[in-house]
Amino acid sequence: MKLISANWKMNITPSQTKEYIIKFLPLIEDVKDREILLCVPYTSLCIASEMLKGTNVKLGAQNVYYEQKGAFTGEISVSMLKDLGVSYVIVGHSERRWIFGEDDEAVNKKLVACLDGGLRPILCVGERLDEREAGLTYKVIETQIRIALSSLENYTDMIDIAYEPVWAIGSGNPATPEDAQAVHRFIKNVLEDLNKNYQGMTRVVYGGSVNVHNAGEFMKMPDVDGLLVGGASLDPKTFSQIVKSF
Ligand code: PGA
Repeated sequence: MKLISANWKMNITPSQTKEYIIKFLPLIEDVKDREILLCVPYTSLCIASEMLKGTNVKLGAQNVYYEQKGAFTGEISVSMLKDLGVSYVIVGHSERRWIFGEDDEAVNKKLVACLDGGLRPILCVGERLDEREAGLTYKVIETQIRIALSSLENYTDMIDIAYEPVWAIGSGNPATPEDAQAVHRFIKNVLEDLNKNYQGMTRVVYGGSVNVHNAGEFMKMPDVDGLLVGGASLDPKTFSQIVKSF
């Protein structure tokens, strides 16, 4: 099933979460043929979890720490998320990589922890503008995937991947659907190369300045298996239109 996911980032308080979900659920209640996911801030997980129970909307977190428990002030573990009914977690978002210094090795440890704990990670990969201009897009993405999945080669079917070119995020300047298609195809080739028994269960979703006008165009591409939507997911009506855009 296609995966249409919201990434609220550091927006929307718990009380606003309640208002959002009250408005959002009726707008998408008849949608059964695609997976709808809200990746909300940690502080909104509790209220969202209560409100989404028994609905067609799944709950995701935006980050996780790789240790199981202990003296890691400010961090949240896989089991804490699972206990709240979280089914997905975004791992290695470019804002975590470039603002918080998360490297490919940390991303790998997080993926290991997620798969050990039964939480489905959405691994984010994508090139910066300087890397793109230097013709390094494919090399950067392949390196990110190979390091992130090292020791996990046999588990490629248990993750989803978001291709999010860093220059397209929050810029109003998305990749073209054709460019995204080419990178998505490449990502699937890398997965096939990594895992000889790959079953093709990894959805490769596109993120970066997705809006109501371009969402349907991305979804026409054969290897675009969904969307990860930041800014345009902050309004429930707009996000519902994106969910229904194809
Ligand atoms: P954007 O963000 O839709 O605001 O560009 C996407 C993302 O970073 O996941």
